[in-house]
Amino acid sequence: MNKDFNQNDITHTEDIISDLKEYLTKYTFEQIYILTDKNCKNLCFPVISKVFNRNEKIFTIISEEKYKNIETVTKIWNFLIKKQADRNSLLINIGGGMVTDIGGFAASTFKRGISFINIPTTLLAQIDASVGGKTGINFQGLKNQIGTITLPEKVFISSIFLKTLDTEEFLSGFGEMLKHALIFDKSHYYELINFINTDFSEKKYQKFNTLIKKSVNIKLHFVKNDITETGLRKTLNFGHTFGHAIESYFLKKRKIMRHGTAVVYGIICELWLSVKYHNFNKNYIEEISKDLINIYGKVNIPEKDFSNIYLLMKHDKKNTGKNIQTVLLKDIGLAEYHNIINKNDIFESLRKLNLLSKEIK
Ligand SMILES: NC(=O)c1ccc[n+]([C@@H]2O[C@H](COP(=O)([O-])OP(=O)(O)OC[C@H]3O[C@@H](n4cnc5c(N)ncnc54)[C@H](O)[C@@H]3O)[C@@H](O)[C@H]2O)c1
Repeated sequence: MNKDFNQNDITHTEDIISDLKEYLTKYTFEQIYILTDKNCKNLCFPVISKVFNRNEKIFTIISEEKYKNIETVTKIWNFLIKKQADRNSLLINIGGGMVTDIGGFAASTFKRGISFINIPTTLLAQIDASVGGKTGINFQGLKNQIGTITLPEKVFISSIFLKTLDTEEFLSGFGEMLKHALIFDKSHYYELINFINTDFSEKKYQKFNTLIKKSVNIKLHFVKNDITETGLRKTLNFGHTFGHAIESYFLKKRKIMRHGTAVVYGIICELWLSVKYHNFNKNYIEEISKDLINIYGKVNIPEKDFSNIYLLMKHDKKNTGKNIQTVLLKDIGLAEYHNIINKNDIFESLRKLNLLSKEIK
């Protein structure tokens, strides 16, 4: 790890131009480089471009997960070398989690590590990917197999970027926000449901800033004393044991299900297991499942495919030995991160997910 964790390294801003300008004047980096993707170069960079009057160099990558690989990293390193970056250079990552993950990785390994800052532009990157220090790329078809834990010098979070984000991407990030609320803060969960049911359609993003800040602070609570994920940080994987498997299952069927959306269906399955393993209140699960299916839509995984989901879960890199480990809840806001679950229970909760989808009008 490059530096100590410091909550002040994250700035939630309603005036990103002034805050970014102030930061860049205060710290004298020899050279500034910008990494972004094609969409963000058109939609997000113009929002802050007037901050950069020093002829900063921009490198643009393709915004697709399949390019989050070592070939793209090599291109970024080549660009930095060609443009004479040195150890006192700064890389600014402007984009979603793909850009902040790969940019953080490229910076943390270039000349044994140069400084980088993140300006996350998707909701998922703002409340999750850009904070917490995990950087990485995919390798041999497996997600985030290679990476470092390196904290950015600074993260600037502003909901101004969300205006151009499409609804599916927004809901994907929102799924991770719901997860944060369910593992830590019951009242925040209801605030989020209230936002989506009342303010979301009018895109009242300014009001949303406070909710983003709460969500980031929940992530930081779990990360700050366990940055390398030996214990408490594992709690953030709630919804992900099923979620990752469901995401990969649909990918194999050539149907794209966004990460945060798959996590939401994972949450429903893991809540059913929470009832069985920790006596989680059944009334809550019916209410929450209904809320989530109303927002994210119905899903149906044919029973004949349950064993595929099970196999995908067995390959989850978070397991130890042959056991499938997951995070379950004792109550809303009270999570237990070490639970070993079995095949029958996994099948049973997938059945419940299908049934709920059928029952909800
Ligand atoms: N490091 C971590 O802790 C962590 C946590 C969660 C996810 N991740 C990683 O994050 C990645 C997913 O991130 P993501 O969901 O942000 O996806 P993404 O970065 O692929 O962005 C999704 C799409 O939105 C576009 N986009 C970005 N900002 C936009 C804006 N403001 N307006 C319009 N379009 C915009 C992008 O160009 C892209 O097409 C995955 O690679 C995942 O592994 C990392």
